[in-house]
Amino acid sequence: MRDCFEIRDYDAAGRIGELTVPRAGVTVETPALLPVINPHLQTVAPSELEREFGAEMLITNGYIFYGSDDYRERALEEGLHDLLDFSGAIMTDSGSFQLAEYGDIDVDTPEILQFQHDIGSDIGTPVDIPTPPDAGREQAERELAATEAALETAETVDVGEMLVNAPIQGATQLDLREDAAARAYTTDLDVFPVGAVVPLLNDYRYDEMVEIVAAAKRGLGADAPVHLFGAGHPMMFALAVAVGCDLFDSAAYALYARDDRYLTVRGTKQLAEMDYFPCSCPVCTSREPSDVRARPDDERKTLLARHNLHVSYAELDRVKQAIREGTLLDLVDERARSHPTMVDGYRALLDHAGQLEATDPVRKDSFFHTSAESARRPEVLRHHERLDRIPIDGDEILLSEGGANGDFDATWRIKPPFGPFPRRLSKTYPLTAQVPDRLSRAAYETAADGIARLVEANPDTAFTVAHFDWPESALARLPALSLVNLTEKS
Ligand code: GUN
Ligand code: ZN
Repeated sequence: MRDCFEIRDYDAAGRIGELTVPRAGVTVETPALLPVINPHLQTVAPSELEREFGAEMLITNGYIFYGSDDYRERALEEGLHDLLDFSGAIMTDSGSFQLAEYGDIDVDTPEILQFQHDIGSDIGTPVDIPTPPDAGREQAERELAATEAALETAETVDVGEMLVNAPIQGATQLDLREDAAARAYTTDLDVFPVGAVVPLLNDYRYDEMVEIVAAAKRGLGADAPVHLFGAGHPMMFALAVAVGCDLFDSAAYALYARDDRYLTVRGTKQLAEMDYFPCSCPVCTSREPSDVRARPDDERKTLLARHNLHVSYAELDRVKQAIREGTLLDLVDERARSHPTMVDGYRALLDHAGQLEATDPVRKDSFFHTSAESARRPEVLRHHERLDRIPIDGDEILLSEGGANGDFDATWRIKPPFGPFPRRLSKTYPLTAQVPDRLSRAAYETAADGIARLVEANPDTAFTVAHFDWPESALARLPALSLVNLTEKS
């Protein structure tokens, strides 16, 4: 059991948790967003991040302080908390990003980890090697071995109460990611960033991001806090949380602002092309896009950065509220509609419905079936698995979308996308789901799969299915049994 992380609530594989950061003397609620602070290019002061945006943790790069004539000595003397004027938790990175960008850095894990400790970091990072996504097997294995050696070294450095990251690499090779995660979990390191996903996210490869995180999660224990390194666009927070990420860091708020780009939960907009602000943050309610465009460079970029932070924190609150309500997958579904590649990410997530089901609460307030994808949600999968175990009360059973019929030993209801269930379960979650009258083909097909599962589990029972004009594609999935089309009868 990792004693720095406690999980309060689950929805799918998403969770609300508390990360205790002993050196900072604080507990950070997760999912959390860590704004990236670059001491050389500050747009919003850390004290303001704390006061105005409620930031409980930020991240900065220890390697920048290490190599800076301006900041190195000050950081060692004053410590990061005083230097940056931030009382929350501070995570530091190691220079691995510079390593990936420029191919070389002049520091190793013991040196930079000690330095991070000495400048007062609360969570430090060893020198991992961010292998780019499409690296070949040989490169991915070789660099992962180097990352794992760095983790082993990190365990031997005496860093007092500072927590230490154990980055998980392995490029797009899922078996490497899973094995790397399993080995990282056996170390005594504390937080588990999934690394080198930035190039994937920059290319909108959300499905592969989901696959990589899902693989890492399979290797980690549920009590491991997981950071999606370098992910800061609010459009994908719900998706990444649903697959099990707890921490995000955002340089996006500042980087996008520098390019006059405006973040929304449905994607990024160019300030130059906006006539209206679809946002009610303090920046947007008192200004028109033309007002912001007319401001001098520095002021305009700060305004945009502040808006970008407001939407990011608001989305994170929305994600947390959704976890509390049990509606996280509805939010993921909604967000998926903003870009075809987000649909891919959502569908990849649902490919892992079994993995999500393991932590999905057994009961929630409501289930709205509002898209074809939601036929593949973990709640539906769980119902299908339960069909193997529900006892059958008779030899001849009617499964019906309509009423009961006394000629049978029992009548069960059918409700797409779940399929069949005994009437006594009608008022239990998730069979209380609200579904539209005009269902997708997928809902009928999934219900048919449920029927097939029930029939297979009960080979000695004779089943009759009474349906309202199901599509051929659904009927084709049923095993041989008696069929009644209730639409034709009435
Ligand atoms: N920032 C973004 N990606 C990475 C990564 O893979 N490793 C480290 N150390 N920092 C990162
Ligand atoms: Zn705004």
